[in-house]
Amino acid sequence: MQDFNNRVAVITGGGSGLGRELALCCAGRGMRLVLGDVDEAGMQETLRLVAEAHPGTEAVTMRLDVSRLEQVQELAALSKSRFGGAHLIFNNAGVSVNGPIWQSTEHDWDWVLGVNLYGVVWGIKAFTPMLIEQNEGHIINTASAAGWLNGPSSGIYNASKTSVVAISETLALDLRDAQANVGVTVLCPAFFPTGIHQSERNRPADKADTVEKSEVSLKRAAALKYAVEHGRIPAADIAEMTLKAVEKDQFYVFPHRKIKQLVKLRAEAADREEGVFDSMNP
Ligand SMILES: NC(=O)c1ccc[n+]([C@@H]2O[C@H](COP(=O)([O-])OP(=O)(O)OC[C@H]3O[C@@H](n4cnc5c(N)ncnc54)[C@H](O)[C@@H]3O)[C@@H](O)[C@H]2O)c1
Repeated sequence: MQDFNNRVAVITGGGSGLGRELALCCAGRGMRLVLGDVDEAGMQETLRLVAEAHPGTEAVTMRLDVSRLEQVQELAALSKSRFGGAHLIFNNAGVSVNGPIWQSTEHDWDWVLGVNLYGVVWGIKAFTPMLIEQNEGHIINTASAAGWLNGPSSGIYNASKTSVVAISETLALDLRDAQANVGVTVLCPAFFPTGIHQSERNRPADKADTVEKSEVSLKRAAALKYAVEHGRIPAADIAEMTLKAVEKDQFYVFPHRKIKQLVKLRAEAADREEGVFDSMNP
């Protein structure tokens, strides 16, 4: 898609970080906004910033949990009833948890896969038929460098993001089979400054049981916080790169070039059938 003016952008996780910057970029291109997030105050702050930067932008918010299919379907219905459809679908909400994989709890798995994997799956399920019917649209799934490189202490997150890459590739091939005029992009950034390292703020009360903190997992959590806070590319730039990729109908987006090098090194390590690839010490 190239002409975004007056089209509709649906953004999950629109109340913080990358989702907020995507909202600002889309509003800057004259789009109408549908924001979905568990954090209503965060979405209101996004709306305030959008109104300040791009007065007159039409926008609607819905408090929702993306791990629930019926709620994502309600978001699609809201977009249709309020704005007549939806064009850019950013399946972007995400959370992370740390800990050795064997110690992670059922709640950790349910929560992180629910948001990061099922959130994307339900976004695809709820919106793709509308896009096919319109014969116009683009689905953007936020994966991560963790969809390709598996660092320690983030097994659930890695599994979720690897799956997002897998389903994005399959979705693009299925849409090609269906001869649908619907594009797909999978976004694979490394660390950049947002609230992702404070994901526990979004953990639901009924999934409170989590991995016990050990010295090693606390060290890993501190390293994650440092890496996120010191990420060199701001979220605003990642959002702009993403919109440019959609304009070019580009499928893969690696904002951090070093990641592509590491992906190649990982493939070479697999080709040599050696020990496990460590992207932190390649
Ligand atoms: N920041 C990074 O370093 C980084 C790197 C690679 C990928 N990502 C991905 O970018 C995406 C955006 O995250 P971010 O970095 O902006 O973090 P963030 O914490 O700033 O934003 C995530 C948003 O998702 C929302 N959210 C959480 N659970 C939800 C749920 N169940 N339903 C609906 N909304 C929910 C949060 O309220 C928040 O507004 C995520 O998918 C994340 O995995 C981030």
